[in-house]
Amino acid sequence: MTSDEILAARRRLIGANVSVGYRRPVHIVRGSMQYLFDDTGRRYIDGYNNVPHVGHCHPRVVDAAERQMRTLNTNTRYLHENLARYAERLTATLPAPLRVCYFVNSGSEANELALRLARAHTRRRDVIVLDAAYHGNTTTLIDISPYKFNGPGGEGAPPWVHVLPLPDTYRGAYRRDDPRAGEKYAEAARYVGNPGAFIAESAPSVGGQIILPERYLASVYAIVRAAGGVCIADEVQTGYGRMGTHFYAFEAQRVIPDIVVLGKPIGNGYPLGAVVTTPDIAASFDNGMEFFSTFGGSTVSCAVGLAVLDVVQQERLQEHALAVGSLLLDRLHGAIGDHPLVGDIRGSGLFLGVELVRDRERLTPASDEASEVVNRMRDRGVLLGTDGPFHNVVKIRPPMPFDEGDAAHLVEVLSDVLGSLRRI
Ligand SMILES: Cc1ncc(COP(=O)(O)O)c(C=O)c1O
Repeated sequence: MTSDEILAARRRLIGANVSVGYRRPVHIVRGSMQYLFDDTGRRYIDGYNNVPHVGHCHPRVVDAAERQMRTLNTNTRYLHENLARYAERLTATLPAPLRVCYFVNSGSEANELALRLARAHTRRRDVIVLDAAYHGNTTTLIDISPYKFNGPGGEGAPPWVHVLPLPDTYRGAYRRDDPRAGEKYAEAARYVGNPGAFIAESAPSVGGQIILPERYLASVYAIVRAAGGVCIADEVQTGYGRMGTHFYAFEAQRVIPDIVVLGKPIGNGYPLGAVVTTPDIAASFDNGMEFFSTFGGSTVSCAVGLAVLDVVQQERLQEHALAVGSLLLDRLHGAIGDHPLVGDIRGSGLFLGVELVRDRERLTPASDEASEVVNRMRDRGVLLGTDGPFHNVVKIRPPMPFDEGDAAHLVEVLSDVLGSLRRI
């Protein structure tokens, strides 16, 4: 089918709010590691898709899936060593007492389950969330996602959901020059009566590639736990070494969550989600009602999950993310730091954001310009996206094999594109 035929079929057959990226949609037919290829054979650098974490179609992951698919693919009601081995390997990446796993098929399902665990343990419903957060597409998760309930078509926060200010030290109330910004932002949690759970991305990605100020999570966790709630870390975007300095983003904040939620990267594109919690919380959830996910923890899912972990660890992708990400950050500062539209360049490892503003004093979001930048980058063969409450943060979050050459090329093209924007 041609691109036009596919588009026409989508318009007829697919819900209109299932969106397509870019002004000129990209018709991708093949992927290999950090590269995508369109129907004309043109190569693109994938600069922001964090789902194919170890690389599009990584041969070790594909082989593991294919081999297991030919042999057996069934559910957790049978004994199979893959489930035991995967749970062992996954929990070994996490600090104690996070030792009990549940496997599901997506980040949304994992967050849903995390909320059920929290409710079973605390017998409370109230949830504290960060402003601009997104946690998934189900009814309950839209209810705890300000990014959605405050956006187009949203119905606002339900009474059991309490929204804390996004601890954004670039445009929020407390800035980077305030050494107590973390504690100050956390204070807002004190005014929530009886929290059952606090849930946050350990580095808010949808919120605009935010790096939390020091001691933020430790301070909120202390307040929430003292009030009888549990703390959930949504690591769907940030887990598995992307931040470079640590395997999970919560580790950079020196906290241990009560429940960790994993998704996207752990299956490298295969639908895999996981929830890992403490034996105490798992015991509260074990209340006589069986938990079963037909595909979660299937023999193939676990084979894929094990292969992804093997690659992340054996190819030392966390160290790679730190080296390439630091170089990229330096080069971005050098090449575009003085451009009048560039308000902030931030991030860690291969989790970076370039925030565009029309006015560096007032921080007026340059949302249209950000959209123009990613569209022009796409035309130049580099795929990036925008995020943040104003959609003015250009996100750079590539598959982890993204290397120094890709970084140099991305910076060169971005610098060119920003230069051309000055003249529109
Ligand atoms: C932080 C975060 N949590 C949860 C989800 C939901 O994951 P999924 O789309 O796999 O259901 C997403 C998806 O974008 C996400 O960004």
